[in-house]
Amino acid sequence: MAAEESRRLLGHAASDSCPRVQNKRLYLATFAAVLGPLSFGFVLGYSSPAIPELRKISDPKLRLDSSQASWFGSVVTLGAAAGGILGGYLVDKVGRKLSLMLCSIPYVFGYIVIISAQNVWMLYFGRTLTGLASGITSLVVPVYISEISHPKVRGMLGSCVQLMVVTGILGAYIAGVTLKWRWLAVLCSFPSCIMLLFMSFMPETPRFLLNQSKRSEAIASLRFLRGPHVDHEWECRQIEAGVQEEGLNLSEFKNPSIYRPLLIGVALMFFQQVTGINAVMFYAETIFEDANFKDSRMASVVVGSIQVCFTAVAALTIDKTGRKVLLYVSGIIMALSTALFGLYFKIVLSNRNNSTNPDTWFTLNSASPGTESGISWLAVASLGLFVAGFALGWGPIPWLLISEIFPLKARGILSGACVLTNWVIAFLVTKEFHDFIGFLTSSGTFWLFSAFCCLNITFTAFYVPETKGRTLEQIEAYFRS
Ligand code: BGC
Repeated sequence: MAAEESRRLLGHAASDSCPRVQNKRLYLATFAAVLGPLSFGFVLGYSSPAIPELRKISDPKLRLDSSQASWFGSVVTLGAAAGGILGGYLVDKVGRKLSLMLCSIPYVFGYIVIISAQNVWMLYFGRTLTGLASGITSLVVPVYISEISHPKVRGMLGSCVQLMVVTGILGAYIAGVTLKWRWLAVLCSFPSCIMLLFMSFMPETPRFLLNQSKRSEAIASLRFLRGPHVDHEWECRQIEAGVQEEGLNLSEFKNPSIYRPLLIGVALMFFQQVTGINAVMFYAETIFEDANFKDSRMASVVVGSIQVCFTAVAALTIDKTGRKVLLYVSGIIMALSTALFGLYFKIVLSNRNNSTNPDTWFTLNSASPGTESGISWLAVASLGLFVAGFALGWGPIPWLLISEIFPLKARGILSGACVLTNWVIAFLVTKEFHDFIGFLTSSGTFWLFSAFCCLNITFTAFYVPETKGRTLEQIEAYFRS
């Protein structure tokens, strides 16, 4: 009886509720793990309130000019790219749980360096360390969650990664309204300390343990995660059937079960970033200022709140709608909103053809107040729509999919390649955004983002597999066949 129910819940046809499987401790382990993405959100959100203060600070050794301010923001993405490589190595060597616990060291140490900074280089170093920790976290947590979950809730729990990232961003924006940059750094270091504490009570994933031939520990982990009333033996055998003991060697990259998910994962990360999300987030304040919003800090809070709400909608619906439907909806909304953005710039900038540099984004702020406030609402509406669209699909789902599609024995290295791609492209998009505007004009740049969003939709249709309701082993078998 227990075996049959386990199969029903944990296997392919998992559609009904199964009262014997207890999810409470699975949720607890997920909660402990997502304190990592919460810390990573705080890292991403930190620069927005800290930069304006550091630009005006009285100490000349700490004061940032505009180029230093952009490095202070973007050096995190470089640290995170390195974290992707390190995380890919760690996750397979020391395990998912320990890798995650180790992240708290660069998080806390990075903030200590920022708090005690005597010059700009210490600020960069602290930001790079917190970026490194974010890169490792962005790789390890999706893998940890997908490996402890069962198919019925894996999408929802996996989407909590992004939900906590955007909650962290929002938390930093809100706290930044009242806290000074040093106190904000103190606050930002807390979630990683709590994560370290909670994770020390959580189990390693059964899949990692079985791959290490630690069967009795794997059974104990399953007992913790599923409660005592299901057939752990049965689930253990299902996982073992998919475990290939030998390690990964280079010649296996010719094997479709490795290169196909790798290409899909790397492309997902590329497409996530070329939607322009980080450029839009980075310059959101400028858009709001242009639309005559007096308090651009509050405007950032509004953007952060939209992200949190729509990511929550995605998390709650993903196991019913599936991944692909949300990717389509998200891609369509983003393609439309970036096209509208482009239209906005076309209208506004062609009205300003007497300006010395009419095509630059930054001339928008020099508009005499109120002249274009009507049309400025088009920018604000496009921004809200864009952020909501991203949060519904292309924000959470690429992270979820890369935790689902890789074979167990190569999960670390392949996820590392994806995380590296994500953060390198994020760096390029945020750093080169100004140059793009100079080269393509503001409207051209947003139409390019729109074109990439259309490509996202086509890519989803032809290459992204639907993973809803399948076990990780079934997904692995799909790529092998
Ligand atoms: C992306 C980040 C982005 C964040 C906030 C994540 O999924 O990978 O680049 O900054 O979402 O929206």
